[in-house]
Amino acid sequence: MKLYIVANRLPVKAVPRQDSYTFVRSEGGLATGLDSLQISMEKHWIGWPGVCVDNARQQIEIRQHLETMDFHPIFLSEEQYHDYYEGYSNSTIWPLCHYFFSHTTVRKEYWESYQKVNALFCDEICKQVGSGDWVWIQDYQLMLLPGMLRKRMPNLHIGYFHHIPFPSYELFRILPERAELLNGLMGADFIGFHTHDYMRYFINAVERVLHIKFDLDEAQTDSRIVRVNALPMGINYELYNHSSATPKVWSEIEKKRILFRNHKLLLSVDRLDYSKGILHRLQGFETFLERHPEYQGKVTLAMVIVPSRDHVESYAGLKTKIDETIGRINGRYSDINWTPVCYFYHGFSFEELTAMYFVADVALVTPLRDGMNLVAKEYVATKVNNPGVLVLSEMAGAAVELADAIQINPNDTDQIADAIFTALQMPYEEQAKRISKMQAILSVQTVNKWAADFMEEWKNVVDKNQYLSGK
Ligand code: G6P
Repeated sequence: MKLYIVANRLPVKAVPRQDSYTFVRSEGGLATGLDSLQISMEKHWIGWPGVCVDNARQQIEIRQHLETMDFHPIFLSEEQYHDYYEGYSNSTIWPLCHYFFSHTTVRKEYWESYQKVNALFCDEICKQVGSGDWVWIQDYQLMLLPGMLRKRMPNLHIGYFHHIPFPSYELFRILPERAELLNGLMGADFIGFHTHDYMRYFINAVERVLHIKFDLDEAQTDSRIVRVNALPMGINYELYNHSSATPKVWSEIEKKRILFRNHKLLLSVDRLDYSKGILHRLQGFETFLERHPEYQGKVTLAMVIVPSRDHVESYAGLKTKIDETIGRINGRYSDINWTPVCYFYHGFSFEELTAMYFVADVALVTPLRDGMNLVAKEYVATKVNNPGVLVLSEMAGAAVELADAIQINPNDTDQIADAIFTALQMPYEEQAKRISKMQAILSVQTVNKWAADFMEEWKNVVDKNQYLSGK
């Protein structure tokens, strides 16, 4: 019995180097989170290796290398990358699920490509799997895949997890292909969401669009029961919690402590994305500096932005606005000894990142919408004998578990400014109390627990369906 994790992106990507390739870890919480999970079954991955290659010899070279690690690549052409990944996945579904209707583009060629690429994944899976295997599909890029697989292999065990918000029916109904997407998902035995709200919105959409009724968390289709549940994804807690005990991270911490010895440090870490509320956060920080001149020269905001989807129009435009806003704030407030916003437009290594988490007095995690947000969890987990304060958007899935953060409405920039002030004033004991309450939750709800819970419930539904069909 094998487990196949199917995601748009593999946990490693092939990077062209001269006339060959090197292989490095992919960015992103999903790949990192799922890669670290321990499971008793033999684990395989199927996904895109992060590069468009149309040369057969190079494809073979990449495949051979990846298959030594049980990673099976799906190759996309430049056109598919544009229409399926940048197009339907990230210009249609992503903005709609994040309530950015104004960024939602509906184009026939995007939809056609999305169907074709989902079918490509389906072909590859059918080549790889046996009937008793388990296929766990991840995320919005592959919403048609459970249904496609179910048609080809009716007895296959199929699970699906939706890592981004599922929007309310009023929004979801806008999509011309709403019924096809929902039918696609209903091909799974078990469907997971990060929060109860996302799950309820999904049930509502299925009931109203497909006219399939749910009895609490289960729906009876023609052939099977489909179950849904809310299972918030966690992190590899031990990895973050023990990071400062490793010599490499500790030496980074010491360097950073010297660098920021005269300043309070605010930290934010995001992929470049309009859903992350980066401009609102900057506005909140500027308002804070205006209202509390006593903090000018004494607080630095380190803003780490990881480049992402930068060929999609709405992302490229955002980058320009962020550059301008940071330029304006720094131009207005900097002096020879102090720059208010330290801006990094690149990813950080694990050592650098965890050292920043450790040293930062405050983490500002203020997305306008976010399925979960693992940065908030990583920050809290990293704090050992050195607390800090998490300012967290109530629009992030993580807000359900992290009730001891200072929670704010990220659309209200005055509230962000007030939250920064409150965080900086918070006594050490109060910080420590809040961090330890949140750590108590995160140390139990780890990524492994999340995967184990998913598998357990999925197996339950499969057993129930087998029992009902008399197998
Ligand atoms: C974020 C989301 C994930 C999604 C990923 C895709 O991390 O939370 O749900 O799968 O982005 O990122 P990519 O760089 O592959 O577009």
